[in-house]
Amino acid sequence: MASTAQRGTWGSKAGFILAASGSAVGLGNIWGFPTQVGQGGGAVFVLIYLACVLFICLPIMVAELVMGRRAQLDPVGSFTLIRPASSWWLVGMLGVLAGAGILSFYSVIAGWSVAYIWYAATGAVTGDADAIGAFFGNFTANGPLSVGLALLVLATTATVLLGGVQSGIERVTKLMMPALIALLLILAIRAATLPGAAEGLTYYLRPDFSRLLDPSVLNAALGQAFFSLSLGMGAMLTYGSYLSKHESIITAALWVVALDTSMALLAGFIIFPSGFSIEGFDPSASGPGLIFAVLPRLFATLPGGQLFGAAFFILLTMAALTSTISLLEVPVAHFIDAHQWTRRKAVLLVTTGVFLLAIPSALGNGAVGVFSRLPGIGVDFLTLMATIWNNFALPVGGLLTAVFVGWVWRVDQAIEEVELHGAPFPARRLWSVLIRYVCPAAISVIIVYAVVSL
Ligand code: TRP
Repeated sequence: MASTAQRGTWGSKAGFILAASGSAVGLGNIWGFPTQVGQGGGAVFVLIYLACVLFICLPIMVAELVMGRRAQLDPVGSFTLIRPASSWWLVGMLGVLAGAGILSFYSVIAGWSVAYIWYAATGAVTGDADAIGAFFGNFTANGPLSVGLALLVLATTATVLLGGVQSGIERVTKLMMPALIALLLILAIRAATLPGAAEGLTYYLRPDFSRLLDPSVLNAALGQAFFSLSLGMGAMLTYGSYLSKHESIITAALWVVALDTSMALLAGFIIFPSGFSIEGFDPSASGPGLIFAVLPRLFATLPGGQLFGAAFFILLTMAALTSTISLLEVPVAHFIDAHQWTRRKAVLLVTTGVFLLAIPSALGNGAVGVFSRLPGIGVDFLTLMATIWNNFALPVGGLLTAVFVGWVWRVDQAIEEVELHGAPFPARRLWSVLIRYVCPAAISVIIVYAVVSL
């Protein structure tokens, strides 16, 4: 009896961790993190990122999971249930918008990953650093191709949500995650043995403290941490609503955060050593094309590189798909719950809206066109979208969630929910202080500092 029950419990916690990690691990880890490190000046960004993960995001992860498990509803419904007849449901609404907004640019990058499966397999990307950079430039300058690839990603995501094949997602994630980790480890070891690797490791690991208080670096690190952990828009809250009352929220949160953060750090151990082995490499100059410029060179140094390259981009695409599914599910679930739409209608209409918003992001990476240099702003449309949603919307969503759980719902209620499975909440004092004071203060300071110094 006891052993059956234990196996059952463990099986279902593993299921939860797989689904939540499937949402968290994606382009944010392998594309976003190295790109941001490159723009944020290397190791100092890594340090700030880790501090944001530990002191801001981990407590908020617990808060989202606790709220979801208590309310057993979607984000808008959860805020309404806990505080009816107030305006708090708007925080849930912000999450619905953020889900669609993030998906609009995310699908474009996932589309690039799809194309690179083919390019890597056929060995199309060859030559020196300039040639590989030019290849990426020419590829993304083909706007209609990027639009078509984004459509392919969105249509695949929509098909999965229409079928409601949740168990399929779990199975895919279960195979994908170990394969991805194994491949990343092999690539990191190879990268470490390349000439120039030491310079890359120094860049990645030795902080230049003069940028420690740079407001744009602080803001980018905070935004990246929220984005990578799928926090601040109710996605984890939704997953929490599926978490059984017999399981430990804290263990689940620690697992997801540890897995997601190790994958991001591992990606850095691949990109920087191999990047610096390329002559004239400048990590800050590559922008969103960083991994697409560095990785093909790394694959070329491996025996069977075409196979490795194709396998890598297949796994990256799968990791992206388990994330797009969770991004699309938040707005879809909202329209089903709040407006009684059928699942079919919700999926079709939301996907169409997201696709329309994805078009300017897909067109903005060519050398020409208004979307590549927005008048008065000077950045391309995709970068603008990523900045609005990741750097501002998610941290603000997280801030409001922390204030809500810490001051409106109150921490003792949350602690009671955490302890439901029968064991005490190990660091409840610390968590209370973090969620009530540290998270709201740190996020506000970083956001305000970033806005005034724009
Ligand atoms: N975390 C995912 C990544 O790193 C992206 C993602 C999926 C996400 N769902 C989310 C980001 C919800 C914010 C909110 O690729």
